[in-house]
Order: sequence, then structure tokens, then C-alpha cells
Amino acid sequence: MSNVVLKEGINWVGVVDWNIRDFHGYVTGRGTTYNAYLIRDEKTALVDTVRHNFAEELARNIQELTSLEKIDYIIVNHVEMDHSGSLPEIAALCKNAKIIACQRGKDALIEHYGPEFNRVEVVKTGDELKLGKHTLRFLETPMLHWPDSMFTYVVEEKILISNDAFGEHFASSERFDDEVDQQVLMDEARTYYANILMPFAPLITRKIQEVVQMGIPIDMIAPDHGVIWRKDPSKIINAYLKWSAFESVQKVIIVLDTMWGSTDKMARAIEEGVASEGVDVRVLKLRATDNTEVVTEILEAKAVVVGSPTLNSQMFPTLSSFLTYITGLRPRGKLWAFFGSYGWGGGAVRGMVETAKKAGFEVYEPGIEVKYVPDSDDLKKCFDFGKQIAQKIKA
Ligand code: FEO
Repeated sequence: MSNVVLKEGINWVGVVDWNIRDFHGYVTGRGTTYNAYLIRDEKTALVDTVRHNFAEELARNIQELTSLEKIDYIIVNHVEMDHSGSLPEIAALCKNAKIIACQRGKDALIEHYGPEFNRVEVVKTGDELKLGKHTLRFLETPMLHWPDSMFTYVVEEKILISNDAFGEHFASSERFDDEVDQQVLMDEARTYYANILMPFAPLITRKIQEVVQMGIPIDMIAPDHGVIWRKDPSKIINAYLKWSAFESVQKVIIVLDTMWGSTDKMARAIEEGVASEGVDVRVLKLRATDNTEVVTEILEAKAVVVGSPTLNSQMFPTLSSFLTYITGLRPRGKLWAFFGSYGWGGGAVRGMVETAKKAGFEVYEPGIEVKYVPDSDDLKKCFDFGKQIAQKIKA
């Protein structure tokens, strides 16, 4: 697989993880890749490594091009273990390689793998490393998405090796954006952004502006997951600017779970109310749709309506899981509304509203609660509730 050439002397030497379906809870229906790049010049640099179980494959890919002893530098752009997991093994094999990271990267490497990583050499934004004809310039990107995150820019070839940013969890035989289905590519890029980068939206906007102001020309963006953007890197940059600004469309997402169908009936009536206003609406039942997909749908929606039955005075457990996940992702600029059913004491709607307010969400009140089974009056109220939410986001 090491015959993938970005530019002369620069090869992709990463691995494809076809079968991963659970990436720390993110449902990766199309698998992923762990990208690493080898730059051969008077000096040789390996930029990033891969997950621990692929160390052997990475070493093999490198050896198709050069011997491991010939590697002079290993650049660590990010310490999360899907990239650094194989580093101790690879570093031991690359006996002559210096390891380079930013200060936070060095600290994190020591905290992950022990004091042997005291030998890491530290770089900061603007520092350059000459390999010969190629120069590597470093750009720290703290909290995109870990404190240690960094970009490596290959100056002469205008290639931005962007680590997690601009990536996709998308396993494929193809390595470049122009070789894959564009709809699938952008869907996977959106899912990746929504589930990983959404909390850092303001930082992303600032960092992209910083790169633009630095006048760094970009011919290619080479992330550490998915395909490389060589045909049109501005496509993913513009998408990130749009997503980070939380640009939304007139769409309402109804997220629910149900025990005996009452909350489901309410959801359908709310859906009809929204649709009666000509607003796009989608109903997603948890236990039928994973949080990864729900969050992706929410990214570009103007309103989210959440329904839960009451179970032992609490919201249903799938709803607490969903709300824990979504509040951590910090979506902004959306209207939230809540509804649900109960048998005697209630509690689900109250609990969900409290959670949403604590997260700083704008909540449309009052929500709707129905005892046991909704009758026609209740369903009319739900219809009107949906209609009012649609009208509010159209205003
Ligand atoms: Fe792909 Fe933050 O690791």
C-alpha cells in the first residue's frame, strides 16, 4: 500500500481498518484509516504513526520504501492512541529517529508511555525542520481536538498534514478525494465533524482564519483519517467554516424513545404539526438509530424536539445517554423542546429540561406531558406544539 504518492518523495504509508465499527462509541459504519506519511529527502521523516494493532503493517509499508534505520525523525502530531498506539514499537524499530512533538505532545507521550519519552524534542508554531528540498513547518492547534494537537506543513509542496482535522472515518481502497463518491465523502466528513469536532467550533473558525492570515497556500490537505483532499481542499475548509458557524436549515429533528407507544404517538403528531408548516422534519427513535447518526442530523437542524417516557421517575436511559452525549458536543444556536408520557408521578420531561438548561440550550416552554396514553385532545396539543416550533424557527 506504500505506493500511494502525494508528491515526489512523499508517500502515504498508513493502514486501512476496514472492520472497526465502534470507535470509542462513534459508530463507524464504513471503518476508518490511520494515515501516516513518509517524506524521503536527504533526511527522512515519518509523520504520525497508527493504532497499536497495526504497528507491523506500518513498519512493512515503510520498509517497502526505505529501511527503518534510515528514518531520522518521527513527527507526532497527536497523542491519542489511534495514532500513537504503535509509537513505542515503531520508535524502537527506528533506532536512529528523533521524536518530535510540541510541548503538550511531549508531556502527553510521557504520561501515556513513560519516561523514555523524555527524549522527545519540542517544536512550537513557526519552527521549521529542513529535510533537504523539503521543509516541515509546525503549527500547534491546541484543542483541535486535544491539547497536544499539531499540524505539519510541507512548505515546498504546500501540503498540510492536519492530523484529525478535516478527516473522515471512511475506509476505502482509494486514497484521494477525487477517487471516491462525493456524497459519501461529504456525509462521512459531516458525521466526523459532528461527532468529534463540534465542541471546538469557535476554535476551528479562529484557527482557519489564522492559517488564512498567515498566507499559507494549501494544495493538499492530508488528514490522519480517510482520504486526502488533493482535488479541492477548499471544499472541506469551506464545509468546516459552515459547520463551525452552525449554519442551519429549516429542519426539525424529533428524537425519542418509547415504552408502550405513547411517546411514539406524540412524536408522530408533533411531526405532522411541523410538516403542516412546510418545514422539513425527521423522526429518530433511539434504539433504532445510534447517537452518532442522531448528532449528525442535528448539526444542521434549527430545532430539536426530544421525547421520553418516564421510567421510575426518570427519563428513559437511552435519553440520558443521548443528552449526556449531545450536551458534551455543545451544539449552538438551536431551539430545544421536550415532551413525554408518564404513568403516575412524571419526571422525564422535567429532567430533560433541567439537563438542557444546565447545558445552556434555548428551551421552548412549556413542554408537553401526557398521562398513560394520549387521547385525541392530547394529540391535537402535540400537533399544535409541532406547529408552534416550526413557526418559531421560520420567524
Ligand atoms: Fe484520530 Fe484524536 O485521534
